[in-house]
Amino acid sequence: MSDITISINGKQCKAKEGEFILNIARREDIFIPAICYLTGCSPTLACRLCIVDADNKRVYACNAKAKDGMQITTDSEEIANERKAIMQVYNVNHPLQCGVCDQSGECELQNYTLYEKVNEQKFAIADTKRPIRDWGVLKYDAALCIVCEKCVTVCKDSIGDSVLKTVPRGGEPLNKELKASMPKDSYAMWNKLQKSIIGTINEDNSLECQDCGECIAVCPVGALVSTDFQYRANVWELKKIPAANPHSSDCSLIYYEVKNDSIYRVTNEPHYSPISGAVRFGYDFENRVKEKDRQSFEKAVDFIKNRADTIKFNSYITNEEALILQKLKEKYNLKLINKDALAYQKFLKNFSKTSGKSLYSGSLKTIRESNFIISVGTHLRYDNPVTGYAMNNALSMNKGAGIYFHPLIDTVVEKFSKNILTISPDIGSEEHILAFILNYFIKEGVDIKLPEFDRSIIGLPEDFEEKMTKMLAKKDRFSLIVGEDLYTHERSENIAKLVGLIEKYTDFSVVIIPSQTNTLGVSLICDLDEKEGKSVVGYNEKGDFTLSALGDGDLDIPALNQQEGTFTNIDKRVVPTNAALSYNGYILNDIANELGLKTKYTIDYTPQLPKNRGFEPLEFDLLPNFFDNGANEIRGYLLKQKSVKSTDEIDFVKKPKKIDPKDAIYRSNPINQFNFFTNKAHQLKEDGALYVSNEFLQSYDLKDGDLVSIENVIELKVKLDKQLGGKIAYLPTFDAKIDTDKIFQTGYRFAKININKGVKNG
Ligand code: SF4
Ligand code: SF4
Ligand code: FES
Repeated sequence: MSDITISINGKQCKAKEGEFILNIARREDIFIPAICYLTGCSPTLACRLCIVDADNKRVYACNAKAKDGMQITTDSEEIANERKAIMQVYNVNHPLQCGVCDQSGECELQNYTLYEKVNEQKFAIADTKRPIRDWGVLKYDAALCIVCEKCVTVCKDSIGDSVLKTVPRGGEPLNKELKASMPKDSYAMWNKLQKSIIGTINEDNSLECQDCGECIAVCPVGALVSTDFQYRANVWELKKIPAANPHSSDCSLIYYEVKNDSIYRVTNEPHYSPISGAVRFGYDFENRVKEKDRQSFEKAVDFIKNRADTIKFNSYITNEEALILQKLKEKYNLKLINKDALAYQKFLKNFSKTSGKSLYSGSLKTIRESNFIISVGTHLRYDNPVTGYAMNNALSMNKGAGIYFHPLIDTVVEKFSKNILTISPDIGSEEHILAFILNYFIKEGVDIKLPEFDRSIIGLPEDFEEKMTKMLAKKDRFSLIVGEDLYTHERSENIAKLVGLIEKYTDFSVVIIPSQTNTLGVSLICDLDEKEGKSVVGYNEKGDFTLSALGDGDLDIPALNQQEGTFTNIDKRVVPTNAALSYNGYILNDIANELGLKTKYTIDYTPQLPKNRGFEPLEFDLLPNFFDNGANEIRGYLLKQKSVKSTDEIDFVKKPKKIDPKDAIYRSNPINQFNFFTNKAHQLKEDGALYVSNEFLQSYDLKDGDLVSIENVIELKVKLDKQLGGKIAYLPTFDAKIDTDKIFQTGYRFAKININKGVKNG
């Protein structure tokens, strides 16, 4: 897209040819009223408030594309009359319940009614009884709905579930005479409004979706609300605390909304950054303690100083905590054990050996901007929902195409686009898939020895080449997403090198999904060890002495919603997070101080994060955390990428051991669960189960809720995941009652198992 200049109300604005006028105006801080447009999604053209004059023609700013030299006026008497009439129409039969409505105070209907100075009502029509629907975590009140269709659009273009649609409202037809007597756009808007409300794609109007809650976030009025939050607080009573998603490595910008030292809800910036249901609904995982427990604190200090040889932890910690643990390792000669970050650290090192880069080049933004995307080795929407949204958004908005390789069948990914090829390869065939991608997409003129691969195990359909010719037409922006299945694969070293060669010798920019919230940060900050010693301090992990934010250890520590600090996210961005709630006990920094590290606040470590790994010496308080009006992410800072010496040498590709899908199990959490902390949240709390598809239930002749035993060592219920297809079940790690280590002994996410109906030996 070439650079152009347009004039908006006389202001010269630089833009790209084809950009929507509304987006240019917003970037330039020029206000154009608009209710129904959602940045990054298709315009719905429902509200018509965004009318402007462009070269003397009436256009809608949210879907009119800018052309060089265009002259735009955003206001005139005629436009003002039109907008006022639109707002009058929106208020026809709108229930007068602002006093109790959840949206009151941040309602776009209220705001624009005032902005357009609507002080009389010229229009009227008989009202229609409209239903209230209880959709689990959501409630829909059709009487409040202004049918802007943002919920429909966000679910389709951003999230990918596509479960909402407009359905007939059964409203009275408009009196035809109105057409001549009222402004044209307000009449057209009203005519449409009278005909529709929101329903679902299911015949019984039930909502079966991933419960992300993004439709609540975009609803401009109080029509779609959180069931749990409804009628609990007025928005002006809540303090918004900017933070970062603590549950997965998107670390999206969130706001904890707090009153009386309790979190009432989590909100986000839906125009720029959709969030997962896990963070929207899984926020109350804090660790409440009444006071400092001096005795346990002294025991912890003594244990680390005199008895421990190991600290075991996971990656649900901040960069600053990781640095404190690294400093304790150096001072007290301790081992640091973190299985998740170690696997990732090794993968990244091997990736660097062939790519020549310390870090991968891709990000959620590069995925969103792509028009050809491949995903390999990740149960994408479950492992990192926001990366799933990015893939769906690119396919929907950029006329994109893509391939999704995974042995588990995800029926939602199949719906992302008609130009997505979902392939169920053999279990363990990831090395072959990467070798295939390198062979297929290597740039012309690159002369390296290409690895051989076995086409039969990666599941390419017979007409693959034909399909690819169509899918690749006019494609010029490529993304490769890889995930956790690769880091724990027995061939992970060679797989990482293959990914590195793809980064170096093809047009793909690669994203290597960090498996937990701060896996990337920990892998850069800590020197991790392979084997634990004899005397272990557990930091949110079980140890001989356990420090736990779950409240089940020897000394309590704060949870991530009670701490400030930074995470290093999937975009290689160091983002700040703030404490939403108070904490009255001891924190890691108190222990570190007692052990001689002497740093007043945990965030004093922020500028000390290792420069040689790409961090910057910036004070925590200087780190911003917002999006600007041009949709630019102004959050923290990006890690510095470094060049490293590289080689093209890789190993031969080896054939994996065959596992039949019906004898396989996969380690994965259900879509809104990530860890013991999400499991603690009252809206997400559920018992772990073996998650299965309908096909699985049928093949074992089971019903949802029946008991099974796995390898005769774990006995649990089966739970139907309606978005899962195929025969492979998945076993979660979020419920401490299920010991998954017994099943996944090699660390790889697939295991060969026996599942028996009924109880042990049954
Ligand atoms: S429920 Fe809300 S977002 Fe959806 S159409 Fe109605 S007003 Fe718009
Ligand atoms: S909760 Fe998410 S998936 Fe469900 S209808 Fe709303 S936007 Fe769609
Ligand atoms: S914002 Fe353009 S029609 Fe609603």
